[in-house]
Amino acid sequence: MPFRGFADVWTPLVPARDVRNKPVRVALAGEALVLFRDGQGRPGALIDRCPHRGVALSLGRVAADGCLECPFHGWRFDVTGANRGVPLNPEARLETLGAQALPTREVGGLIWVYTRPGAVEPPEPAIPPALVDPDLARTVVRRDWACHWTRAMENMLDGQHLPFVHRRTIGRSLRRRMRPDSRMDVSWEDTGFGGRILAALDGRDGGSLLEFYRPNIMVLHIPIPRRRLRLHALVVPAETGRTRLMVVAVRDFARSPLLEPLFAWMNGRIVDEDQAVVESSGPEECPPAAEERSVATDRATLQFRRYYYGVLRGSGA
Ligand code: FES
Ligand SMILES: [Fe+2]
Repeated sequence: MPFRGFADVWTPLVPARDVRNKPVRVALAGEALVLFRDGQGRPGALIDRCPHRGVALSLGRVAADGCLECPFHGWRFDVTGANRGVPLNPEARLETLGAQALPTREVGGLIWVYTRPGAVEPPEPAIPPALVDPDLARTVVRRDWACHWTRAMENMLDGQHLPFVHRRTIGRSLRRRMRPDSRMDVSWEDTGFGGRILAALDGRDGGSLLEFYRPNIMVLHIPIPRRRLRLHALVVPAETGRTRLMVVAVRDFARSPLLEPLFAWMNGRIVDEDQAVVESSGPEECPPAAEERSVATDRATLQFRRYYYGVLRGSGA
Protein backbone atom coordinates (compact mmCIF):
# COMPACT_ATOMS: atom_id res chain seq x y z
CA MET A 1 0.00 0.00 0.00
CA PRO A 2 1.58 3.28 -1.06
CA PHE A 3 1.56 6.34 1.22
CA ARG A 4 1.70 4.32 4.39
CA GLY A 5 1.58 6.79 7.29
CA PHE A 6 0.25 9.50 4.98
CA ALA A 7 -2.77 7.85 3.40
CA ASP A 8 -6.29 9.16 2.70
CA VAL A 9 -5.40 12.84 2.93
CA TRP A 10 -5.37 15.74 0.54
CA THR A 11 -2.01 17.44 0.25
CA PRO A 12 -0.74 20.33 -1.81
CA LEU A 13 2.03 18.96 -3.99
CA VAL A 14 3.66 21.55 -6.28
CA PRO A 15 2.83 24.97 -7.73
CA ALA A 16 0.45 24.46 -10.65
CA ARG A 17 2.76 26.24 -13.07
CA ASP A 18 5.32 23.44 -12.64
CA VAL A 19 2.97 21.06 -14.44
CA ARG A 20 2.69 21.44 -18.21
CA ASN A 21 2.32 19.10 -21.10
CA LYS A 22 5.62 17.43 -20.29
CA PRO A 23 5.70 14.73 -17.61
CA VAL A 24 7.36 15.70 -14.32
CA ARG A 25 8.41 13.34 -11.58
CA VAL A 26 7.56 14.40 -8.03
CA ALA A 27 8.24 12.51 -4.80
CA LEU A 28 5.46 12.26 -2.25
CA ALA A 29 5.78 10.33 1.00
CA GLY A 30 8.31 7.94 -0.50
CA GLU A 31 6.34 7.32 -3.71
CA ALA A 32 7.33 8.63 -7.11
CA LEU A 33 4.48 10.32 -8.95
CA VAL A 34 4.32 11.58 -12.51
CA LEU A 35 2.34 14.74 -13.18
CA PHE A 36 1.18 15.99 -16.57
CA ARG A 37 -1.63 17.86 -18.30
CA ASP A 38 -3.87 16.60 -21.03
CA GLY A 39 -5.04 18.48 -24.15
CA GLN A 40 -7.63 20.44 -22.15
CA GLY A 41 -5.09 21.45 -19.54
CA ARG A 42 -6.46 19.09 -16.89
CA PRO A 43 -3.75 17.90 -14.51
CA GLY A 44 -3.23 14.24 -13.71
CA ALA A 45 -1.09 12.45 -11.14
CA LEU A 46 -0.16 8.79 -11.62
CA ILE A 47 2.09 6.49 -9.65
CA ASP A 48 5.26 6.72 -11.72
CA ARG A 49 5.32 3.05 -12.63
CA CYS A 50 3.90 1.52 -15.75
CA PRO A 51 1.54 -1.38 -14.97
CA HIS A 52 3.18 -3.32 -17.82
CA ARG A 53 6.83 -3.63 -16.80
CA GLY A 54 7.25 -1.11 -14.04
CA VAL A 55 9.06 1.51 -16.09
CA ALA A 56 9.00 5.14 -14.95
CA LEU A 57 6.22 6.78 -16.94
CA SER A 58 7.89 10.14 -16.35
CA LEU A 59 10.50 9.09 -18.95
CA GLY A 60 7.73 9.05 -21.55
CA ARG A 61 5.99 11.90 -23.28
CA VAL A 62 2.58 13.46 -23.54
CA ALA A 63 1.20 12.40 -26.92
CA ALA A 64 -0.87 14.58 -29.24
CA ASP A 65 -4.12 13.21 -27.75
CA GLY A 66 -3.10 14.40 -24.28
CA CYS A 67 -2.28 10.90 -22.99
CA LEU A 68 0.94 10.05 -21.23
CA GLU A 69 2.82 7.52 -23.35
CA CYS A 70 5.09 4.98 -21.63
CA PRO A 71 8.64 5.15 -23.05
CA PHE A 72 9.01 1.35 -23.23
CA HIS A 73 6.14 -0.05 -25.35
CA GLY A 74 4.00 3.01 -25.84
CA TRP A 75 0.96 2.19 -23.68
CA ARG A 76 -1.07 5.36 -23.29
CA PHE A 77 -2.79 6.60 -20.14
CA ASP A 78 -5.13 9.54 -19.64
CA VAL A 79 -5.19 11.80 -16.55
CA THR A 80 -7.54 9.37 -14.79
CA GLY A 81 -5.07 6.51 -15.34
CA ALA A 82 -7.35 4.79 -17.88
CA ASN A 83 -5.49 2.89 -20.59
CA ARG A 84 -6.23 4.45 -24.01
CA GLY A 85 -4.13 2.24 -26.19
CA VAL A 86 -1.72 -0.71 -26.33
CA PRO A 87 0.25 -0.70 -29.59
CA LEU A 88 0.39 -3.95 -31.62
CA ASN A 89 -2.30 -5.56 -29.45
CA PRO A 90 -5.72 -4.72 -30.88
CA GLU A 91 -7.36 -7.32 -28.63
CA ALA A 92 -5.87 -6.02 -25.40
CA ARG A 93 -8.56 -5.47 -22.74
CA LEU A 94 -7.75 -1.85 -21.98
CA GLU A 95 -10.10 -1.68 -19.00
CA THR A 96 -7.82 -4.07 -17.10
CA LEU A 97 -4.57 -2.33 -18.04
CA GLY A 98 -4.83 1.06 -16.37
CA ALA A 99 -2.23 2.94 -14.34
CA GLN A 100 -2.78 4.01 -10.73
CA ALA A 101 -4.07 7.57 -10.60
CA LEU A 102 -4.49 9.85 -7.61
CA PRO A 103 -7.51 12.14 -7.37
CA THR A 104 -6.14 15.56 -8.36
CA ARG A 105 -7.29 19.17 -8.03
CA GLU A 106 -5.87 22.46 -9.18
CA VAL A 107 -6.76 25.06 -6.54
CA GLY A 108 -5.13 28.24 -5.33
CA GLY A 109 -2.28 28.01 -7.82
CA LEU A 110 -1.30 24.59 -6.53
CA ILE A 111 -1.76 20.99 -7.58
CA TRP A 112 -3.34 18.90 -4.81
CA VAL A 113 -3.56 15.13 -4.67
CA TYR A 114 -5.45 12.66 -2.51
CA THR A 115 -3.18 9.94 -1.22
CA ARG A 116 -5.23 6.92 -2.17
CA PRO A 117 -4.76 5.82 -5.76
CA GLY A 118 -8.04 5.04 -7.41
CA ALA A 119 -10.22 6.56 -4.66
CA VAL A 120 -13.59 7.04 -6.31
CA GLU A 121 -15.29 9.77 -4.29
CA PRO A 122 -12.80 11.20 -1.85
CA PRO A 123 -13.92 14.02 0.46
CA GLU A 124 -13.18 17.51 -0.88
CA PRO A 125 -9.98 19.08 0.43
CA ALA A 126 -10.22 21.68 3.22
CA ILE A 127 -8.39 24.66 1.77
CA PRO A 128 -7.55 27.84 3.71
CA PRO A 129 -9.76 30.58 2.17
CA ALA A 130 -7.00 33.17 1.76
CA LEU A 131 -5.11 30.72 -0.45
CA VAL A 132 -7.87 30.87 -3.06
CA ASP A 133 -8.82 34.55 -2.70
CA PRO A 134 -8.31 36.10 -6.16
CA ASP A 135 -8.00 39.61 -4.67
CA LEU A 136 -4.80 38.83 -2.83
CA ALA A 137 -1.30 39.03 -4.27
CA ARG A 138 0.81 35.97 -3.61
CA THR A 139 4.44 35.04 -3.24
CA VAL A 140 5.60 31.43 -3.25
CA VAL A 141 8.90 30.43 -1.72
CA ARG A 142 10.16 26.85 -1.87
CA ARG A 143 12.75 25.01 0.10
CA ASP A 144 13.98 21.44 0.54
CA TRP A 145 14.84 20.55 4.09
CA ALA A 146 16.77 17.46 5.20
CA CYS A 147 14.31 16.40 7.87
CA HIS A 148 11.23 14.34 8.56
CA TRP A 149 8.14 16.36 7.66
CA THR A 150 6.68 16.05 11.17
CA ARG A 151 9.52 18.10 12.65
CA ALA A 152 9.01 20.83 10.08
CA MET A 153 5.24 20.78 10.68
CA GLU A 154 5.64 21.09 14.42
CA ASN A 155 8.03 23.97 13.97
CA MET A 156 5.37 25.80 12.00
CA LEU A 157 2.77 25.31 14.74
CA ASP A 158 5.13 26.43 17.49
CA GLY A 159 4.80 30.14 18.22
CA GLN A 160 7.23 30.12 21.11
CA HIS A 161 10.33 29.80 18.97
CA LEU A 162 9.69 33.16 17.31
CA PRO A 163 11.56 35.37 19.84
CA PHE A 164 14.57 33.05 19.58
CA VAL A 165 14.91 31.71 16.05
CA HIS A 166 13.31 34.78 14.47
CA ARG A 167 14.57 37.42 16.87
CA ARG A 168 15.52 39.72 14.02
CA THR A 169 12.45 39.18 11.87
CA ILE A 170 8.91 38.08 12.78
CA GLY A 171 9.89 37.43 16.42
CA ARG A 172 11.27 40.87 17.11
CA SER A 173 8.22 42.49 18.64
CA LEU A 174 7.45 39.48 20.82
CA ARG A 175 11.02 39.49 22.05
CA ARG A 176 10.80 43.15 22.94
CA ARG A 177 7.68 42.60 25.00
CA MET A 178 9.04 39.55 26.84
CA ARG A 179 10.24 39.98 30.41
CA PRO A 180 12.13 37.41 32.48
CA ASP A 181 8.93 36.53 34.36
CA SER A 182 6.61 36.65 31.34
CA ARG A 183 4.03 34.00 30.80
CA MET A 184 2.45 32.84 27.59
CA ASP A 185 -0.94 31.17 27.50
CA VAL A 186 -1.61 29.07 24.44
CA SER A 187 -5.10 27.90 23.62
CA TRP A 188 -6.18 25.31 21.11
CA GLU A 189 -9.66 25.11 19.66
CA ASP A 190 -10.69 22.09 17.59
CA THR A 191 -12.15 22.98 14.22
CA GLY A 192 -13.57 20.90 11.41
CA PHE A 193 -10.33 21.23 9.45
CA GLY A 194 -7.86 20.93 12.34
CA GLY A 195 -7.35 23.58 14.97
CA ARG A 196 -7.02 27.23 15.85
CA ILE A 197 -4.23 28.39 18.11
CA LEU A 198 -4.17 31.66 20.06
CA ALA A 199 -1.36 32.87 22.27
CA ALA A 200 -1.44 35.63 24.87
CA LEU A 201 1.65 37.13 26.44
CA ASP A 202 1.11 38.27 30.04
CA GLY A 203 -2.62 38.22 29.51
CA ARG A 204 -2.49 40.29 26.32
CA ASP A 205 -3.51 38.78 23.05
CA GLY A 206 -1.04 39.95 20.41
CA GLY A 207 -3.61 39.54 17.65
CA SER A 208 -1.81 36.89 15.65
CA LEU A 209 -3.58 33.67 15.01
CA LEU A 210 -2.31 30.30 13.87
CA GLU A 211 -4.41 27.67 12.18
CA PHE A 212 -3.65 24.05 11.46
CA TYR A 213 -5.26 22.41 8.46
CA ARG A 214 -4.84 18.65 8.58
CA PRO A 215 -2.57 17.06 7.63
CA ASN A 216 0.17 19.52 6.76
CA ILE A 217 -0.77 23.19 6.46
CA MET A 218 -0.18 26.06 8.86
CA VAL A 219 -1.76 29.47 8.34
CA LEU A 220 -0.33 32.44 10.21
CA HIS A 221 -2.51 35.56 10.35
CA ILE A 222 -0.11 38.44 10.83
CA PRO A 223 -1.77 41.40 12.53
CA ILE A 224 -1.32 44.62 10.60
CA PRO A 225 -4.06 47.26 11.05
CA ARG A 226 -6.48 47.36 8.09
CA ARG A 227 -4.38 44.94 6.06
CA ARG A 228 -4.53 41.28 5.30
CA LEU A 229 -1.28 39.35 5.41
CA ARG A 230 -1.20 35.58 5.79
CA LEU A 231 1.58 33.08 5.58
CA HIS A 232 0.71 29.55 4.55
CA ALA A 233 3.32 26.91 5.27
CA LEU A 234 2.70 23.77 3.24
CA VAL A 235 4.83 20.94 4.57
CA VAL A 236 5.05 18.09 2.09
CA PRO A 237 6.76 14.79 2.85
CA ALA A 238 8.87 14.02 -0.20
CA GLU A 239 10.98 11.00 0.65
CA THR A 240 12.87 9.68 3.66
CA GLY A 241 14.76 12.55 5.20
CA ARG A 242 13.53 15.13 2.72
CA THR A 243 10.69 17.59 3.16
CA ARG A 244 9.45 19.96 0.48
CA LEU A 245 8.36 23.22 1.95
CA MET A 246 6.24 25.79 0.16
CA VAL A 247 5.49 29.07 1.84
CA VAL A 248 2.67 30.97 0.18
CA ALA A 249 2.33 34.52 1.47
CA VAL A 250 -0.81 36.43 0.45
CA ARG A 251 -1.51 40.12 1.00
CA ASP A 252 -3.98 42.84 0.03
CA PHE A 253 -1.38 45.63 -0.18
CA ALA A 254 1.86 46.29 -2.08
CA ARG A 255 0.50 44.19 -4.93
CA SER A 256 2.85 45.36 -7.65
CA PRO A 257 4.70 42.47 -9.30
CA LEU A 258 7.80 44.63 -9.02
CA LEU A 259 7.75 43.99 -5.28
CA GLU A 260 7.72 40.23 -5.75
CA PRO A 261 11.47 39.74 -5.34
CA LEU A 262 11.40 41.73 -2.12
CA PHE A 263 8.60 39.63 -0.61
CA ALA A 264 10.22 36.42 -1.80
CA TRP A 265 13.49 37.48 -0.21
CA MET A 266 11.83 38.38 3.11
CA ASN A 267 9.80 35.19 3.33
CA GLY A 268 12.78 33.10 2.28
CA ARG A 269 14.86 34.69 4.99
CA ILE A 270 12.30 33.79 7.66
CA VAL A 271 12.10 30.17 6.52
CA ASP A 272 15.85 29.88 6.30
CA GLU A 273 16.15 30.95 9.93
CA ASP A 274 14.34 27.75 10.91
CA GLN A 275 16.24 25.28 8.77
CA ALA A 276 19.30 24.42 10.85
CA VAL A 277 17.27 24.14 14.06
CA VAL A 278 14.68 21.83 12.52
CA GLU A 279 17.22 19.69 10.67
CA SER A 280 19.17 19.18 13.91
CA SER A 281 16.17 17.64 15.73
CA GLY A 282 16.59 14.04 16.83
CA PRO A 283 15.10 11.55 16.44
CA GLU A 284 14.19 12.54 12.90
CA GLU A 285 10.50 11.75 13.17
CA CYS A 286 8.70 13.50 16.02
CA PRO A 287 8.43 10.91 18.80
CA PRO A 288 5.33 10.10 20.85
CA ALA A 289 4.66 12.91 23.35
CA ALA A 290 5.89 10.95 26.38
CA GLU A 291 9.38 10.59 24.93
CA GLU A 292 10.23 14.30 25.06
CA ARG A 293 9.82 16.82 27.87
CA SER A 294 7.05 19.32 27.17
CA VAL A 295 5.55 22.39 28.85
CA ALA A 296 2.28 24.32 28.73
CA THR A 297 3.19 26.39 25.66
CA ASP A 298 3.68 23.18 23.63
CA ARG A 299 -0.04 22.74 23.33
CA ALA A 300 -0.25 22.93 19.54
CA THR A 301 2.73 20.62 19.03
CA LEU A 302 1.14 18.05 21.29
CA GLN A 303 -2.18 18.33 19.48
CA PHE A 304 -0.40 17.69 16.20
CA ARG A 305 1.38 14.72 17.72
CA ARG A 306 -1.90 13.28 18.94
CA TYR A 307 -3.32 13.51 15.42
CA TYR A 308 -0.15 12.14 13.87
CA TYR A 309 0.13 9.13 16.14
CA GLY A 310 -3.61 8.63 16.59
CA VAL A 311 -4.67 8.83 12.95
CA LEU A 312 -2.10 9.48 10.29
CA ARG A 313 0.88 7.35 11.16
CA GLY A 314 -1.19 4.14 11.18
CA SER A 315 -3.02 5.06 7.98
CA GLY A 316 -2.77 2.97 4.87
CA ALA A 317 -1.30 0.01 6.78
S1 FES B 1 6.63 -0.95 -19.65
FE1 FES B 1 5.19 0.59 -20.12
S2 FES B 1 4.39 -0.05 -21.98
FE2 FES B 1 5.70 -1.65 -21.46
FE1 LIG C 1 10.02 29.49 12.39
